[in-house]
Amino acid sequence: MACNCKLLCAYLLLARAAAASGAIGNISVYWGQNSNEGSLAETCGAGRYAFVVIAFLSTFGNGQTPVLNFAGHCNPAAGGCAGLGKDIASCQSRGVKVLLSIGGGAGTYGLSSASDAQSLANYLWDNFLGGDSGSRPLGDAVLNGIDLDIENGDDSSHYVDLARNLTSLYKGDKRGRTYLLTAAPQCPYPDASLGPALGTGLLDHVWVQFYNNPVCEYTSQSNLGASWTTWTQSLPSASVFLGLPASPNAAASGYIDPQALVSRVLPVVNGSANYGGIMLWNRYYEVQTGYSAKLLRMADADPPNGSPIPAGSGNPTPNDSPVSPNTGPWQNKRIRLYIIMGTTSGLLGVCVILVAAFLWYKKYYGMIPWQRGSRNAPRLESFVQKQGSSHPKRYTYSEVRRMTKSFSHRLGQGGYGTVFRGNLPDGREIAVKMLKDTEGDGEEFMNEVASISRTSHVNIVTLVGFCLQGSK
Ligand SMILES: *[C@@H]1O[C@H](CO)[C@@H](O)[C@H](O)[C@H]1NC(C)=O
Ligand SMILES: *[C@@H]1O[C@H](CO)[C@@H](O)[C@H](O)[C@H]1NC(C)=O
Ligand SMILES: *[C@@H]1O[C@H](CO)[C@@H](O)[C@H](O)[C@H]1NC(C)=O
Repeated sequence: MACNCKLLCAYLLLARAAAASGAIGNISVYWGQNSNEGSLAETCGAGRYAFVVIAFLSTFGNGQTPVLNFAGHCNPAAGGCAGLGKDIASCQSRGVKVLLSIGGGAGTYGLSSASDAQSLANYLWDNFLGGDSGSRPLGDAVLNGIDLDIENGDDSSHYVDLARNLTSLYKGDKRGRTYLLTAAPQCPYPDASLGPALGTGLLDHVWVQFYNNPVCEYTSQSNLGASWTTWTQSLPSASVFLGLPASPNAAASGYIDPQALVSRVLPVVNGSANYGGIMLWNRYYEVQTGYSAKLLRMADADPPNGSPIPAGSGNPTPNDSPVSPNTGPWQNKRIRLYIIMGTTSGLLGVCVILVAAFLWYKKYYGMIPWQRGSRNAPRLESFVQKQGSSHPKRYTYSEVRRMTKSFSHRLGQGGYGTVFRGNLPDGREIAVKMLKDTEGDGEEFMNEVASISRTSHVNIVTLVGFCLQGSK
């Protein structure tokens, strides 16, 4: 009897996994970086995800006490995230695997030695997996594994140690449970931080981020196919996922609309023996766009006519919407690059700004700049009002001051102004650029806002918002 029941359960689980698979494969999604994305239990309850990766353990290594950051979902400092344990259990009872991601786009982390790696492995094991710790930050939940999303560009060989040490702890589970090790490298191969760790062959699932990187994402079609082949062949023992933004707003570039994905991109990637499915950044954008729901509906229906990506073909851009202010997984590296660009930008930067400003001007005023009388203040206010009705968001000066702790942490100084570090009220990390006093009509300010909000480039951060108040 007990035997039959086990068999039946196993059968039901298989049937469910099969239902979620099909042409698309499994779907994984990141949760935890926006408090408007619904609870973890609701996320799993959507029934579309095989893996939910909760993000992030954003501080660790170099002797630091590890710190969780789940945006506004809960306050880890006061033990306030223990309640997530219940949600995790509810996910697992539905067959959804829940992993904790370490790293992320805005954390303070790094591994400086083999013993640093070993102590992080012990910490993760004792606090989130099969080990014992007096105070488990997520209650008594036992997660299904650990995900590595190392985006700070550190070329740290100690992630190899971490992978080895974690998997050797995995094998010692007293109750014989199994755990996963996954990673989210960026699509340029090999990944700067994770390359050596991926080479250990210890990873179960690897969701490669095919976004924020025009050299390998879909905007450069033949590149996606070539990059995909490299990734899948180099990770024969892992299942490889196509990592995508769930909305044009979720990343600076690389969005593929569901139709194009099903008709043009899937046929190119899902033939690989180790194709695993799709990873979506992130649940918040999923809620907004229903991306995976659309995808599943389309894949269920007859596949629309379309041809696979022809190698070396032309380049219809799948996403021409403006970059919008919400965060993608942007990176400290990118802030640095941006600052470098700001300070050393020569002709190229100036050209980009001029072209963007020109296009913006034409769009908003229906004429080209030199057809118009210049230098009237109302122009600036009307521009700001237009911006205010859509993205990016307008902040007051005092809000900006709060977010930057009174401009206390200076990141750099460029020709156009100074850049400060700050945090949005929901905890997301931001860089704030304070422009030098501009000429009377705010021309430079408008150019800056227009060009940043319309430029999609891996080296340019996403514009979240702006402030214009009096002389500030
Ligand atoms: C790959 O995806 C296409 C549709 O996008 C589907 O028609 C095809 O059957 C899939 N192939 C595999 C091997 O699942
Ligand atoms: C999806 O995940 C399930 C369970 O984790 C697994 O059995 C199945 O093989 C996976 N499907 C694909 C296409 O990898
Ligand atoms: C941790 O990793 C280091 C380096 O890879 C290795 O020398 C050490 O034996 C590992 N420790 C355990 C317990 O696996």
